[in-house]
Amino acid sequence: MTTTNSDALDPRSTGGGPVLLIGGSRGLGLALAEEWVRRGRHVVATVRGSARTPLHDLADAHPDRIEIETVDITEPGQIAALRARLAGRTFDLLFVNAGIATQRDDSVAQTPTDDFVRVMVTNALSPLRVIEAFEDLVEPTGTIGVMSSGQGSVANNESGGHEVYRGSKAALNTFMRSYAARHAGQPRTLVLMAPGWVRTELGGEGARLTIDESIPNVVRTLDGLQGSPGLHYVDYLGRTVPW
Ligand SMILES: NC(=O)c1ccc[n+]([C@@H]2O[C@H](COP(=O)([O-])OP(=O)(O)OC[C@H]3O[C@@H](n4cnc5c(N)ncnc54)[C@H](OP(=O)(O)O)[C@@H]3O)[C@@H](O)[C@H]2O)c1
Repeated sequence: MTTTNSDALDPRSTGGGPVLLIGGSRGLGLALAEEWVRRGRHVVATVRGSARTPLHDLADAHPDRIEIETVDITEPGQIAALRARLAGRTFDLLFVNAGIATQRDDSVAQTPTDDFVRVMVTNALSPLRVIEAFEDLVEPTGTIGVMSSGQGSVANNESGGHEVYRGSKAALNTFMRSYAARHAGQPRTLVLMAPGWVRTELGGEGARLTIDESIPNVVRTLDGLQGSPGLHYVDYLGRTVPW
């Protein structure tokens, strides 16, 4: 997806304050950053490490709109360091996009323990650590979102496959339900987003949707939920996904 001046939306008509995007180097995260910039929002987006990424090209094209920060969400020390660097900032939206899949499609029992731990720590534990660390930087009526997956639905799991990945997103969903229960009655909007099966490195070439078919809809759905307190598990078209 490329942004040109001609398709840039007028920020005055789209509204929305600053966004903190965790995991914006490539794939869906990069496209989210691009879409928010197109809608006139200021985005602090993170990469891992010091290597140049496509996000750096986007930031070069929009130096006033994108700030690049660094965090590996599986490293609590890096989360704390980023939190310290962002002290005093506020965001309308915190969105945790970072996630991984297993390279192989073993059953859960066949999965090497290291692979199991890596996926669970990255997809289920670390997003909650990020949310707990940054929640006080999000406006009280703002939104905290996480990239889940339709595969995180326990109810819809009738075809099986991708067992560990599915399990990690189902665990993420459950941890967000526990988080929401702990914050019941608060005005914040909480979102678990299922972006559809999308052609990225993770989604693969055979995926049903292009990034352009998913991400503008993801952003539209997030905007539409703004100001709706409580936890929503929705897909890119705003349809509720069964738990
Ligand atoms: N594509 C799909 O069909 C699909 C469907 C449902 C849900 N999702 C979810 O959408 C999210 C993005 O997926 P994608 O398809 O865009 O995958 P991707 O192209 O593989 O990108 C993954 C992103 O997550 C970042 N990341 C991974 N581990 C990280 C860590 N420990 N700390 C910080 N950042 C980390 C990566 O950074 P690096 O560049 O440093 O590796 C990259 O920016 C994931 O949560 C995925 O589970 C994707």
